[in-house]
Amino acid sequence: MLNQDERVIAAPSEIRGTIVIPGDKSISHRSLMFGSLALGTSRITGILESDDISSTISCLRLLGADIRMDGEDVLVTGKGLGGLVEPSIPLDCGNSGTTARLLSGIIAGLPFSSILTGDDSLRSRPMARIIDPLTRLGASIKSASGDNLLPLSVSPTSDIQDNLVIETGVASAQVKSAILLCALSAGVGVMVKEPLLSRDHTERLLTAMGAEFVYPTELSGHSVKLLRTENELQAVDIVVPGDISTAAPWIVAATLHEDAELLLEGVGINKTRTGILDIMEMMGADITIISEKNMGGEPVADLMIKSADLKGVIVEGELIPRSIDELTLVALAGSRASGKTLIRDAGELRKKETDRIGRTVDILRGFGVDIVGTDDGFVITGGGKLRPSVSDSYGDHRLAMLAAVAGILVEEQSCVTNASAVNISYPAFWSEFDRICGGNTI
Ligand code: S3P
Repeated sequence: MLNQDERVIAAPSEIRGTIVIPGDKSISHRSLMFGSLALGTSRITGILESDDISSTISCLRLLGADIRMDGEDVLVTGKGLGGLVEPSIPLDCGNSGTTARLLSGIIAGLPFSSILTGDDSLRSRPMARIIDPLTRLGASIKSASGDNLLPLSVSPTSDIQDNLVIETGVASAQVKSAILLCALSAGVGVMVKEPLLSRDHTERLLTAMGAEFVYPTELSGHSVKLLRTENELQAVDIVVPGDISTAAPWIVAATLHEDAELLLEGVGINKTRTGILDIMEMMGADITIISEKNMGGEPVADLMIKSADLKGVIVEGELIPRSIDELTLVALAGSRASGKTLIRDAGELRKKETDRIGRTVDILRGFGVDIVGTDDGFVITGGGKLRPSVSDSYGDHRLAMLAAVAGILVEEQSCVTNASAVNISYPAFWSEFDRICGGNTI
């Protein structure tokens, strides 16, 4: 007998149909946060409704933001940088690293105190990566127990320095954004230098709201400079593109299934996020990009995915930050490819909602995959026969979806436990899975 939080999966005879991809999580967080900092009312259309986004909304409301539903749209009314106020209780960021790190940056530049905390997973994730650079900028931010973990305590300061150059040492949009946002909320300029370009949704949306960035050319790495300004951000209407990280399980499922033709509608294809498309194409996937358009500064398209035979590849370097949330699925794709697939330079995976190197090895070995975890990635030998498995999601949304996609490749029934972890980023995942892959409900 299955408990309430288990899902049974079996191989569908075919994968066909159309899936409208829900709103991008990174852009949804930023729309709410930046809308709360701007002057006027921003209308957000197509926002993601998920647990992580609920965490951001409840933190922003505690900071005094005015966030309302208007039909299916969200209206965020800001009063400029002076509009947010000291929260009366700690800000609970739930499971969301983006909420914790970006909000820390915003608050560190504002004239009040607050405490940020989160769930067990978030409280175990590294925060030195924002504490150190924000402290170098002049912010007063420390971990309550001195262990560089949440809870973090942020105090007001007038010491935020203008025009510093901060090197991050890690290609992380959360870190880059925390620094840019701290400078922005303190009214100073800053240059952030990261080893490789990370997703640039912060720069794009802030530009649409009136902030100015320049991008100095670098011999190595990537730099972005926020210019100092007296001007407040201005509210804008935002249409959130579909999340390519949410599309990724479907891209891999349709590629690996032997009889598939799946249309994914409205997927954001910002170059800083399309590593998964580049990797799958290198492996031999059949992906067609249809009707590309621009939606408020972000490129969007429909993707047609058909079954394909894959070959093993090496995934490394600049591809890694462009596909960081999809690499567990690439490991699964590698298991169905001919030859070996190597994923390296991806040590960041160990610092996500779970240790995604260790947990992916557990899950995929359960299915019979020949996979070895390394310090910074995986070595996968493709081609072996898969067997059914009972996989735990470990409470990690991306791993629940990984196990679901692996399960459809095995004829006998598999099972995913802690399946509701998908609610973090894709609450409709299991109903869409039932619709597209054959209705295996409990
Ligand atoms: C995110 C950035 C990435 C990504 C996360 C969302 C963001 O994290 O893994 O899911 O919205 O900025 P890092 O910036 O730590 O790489």
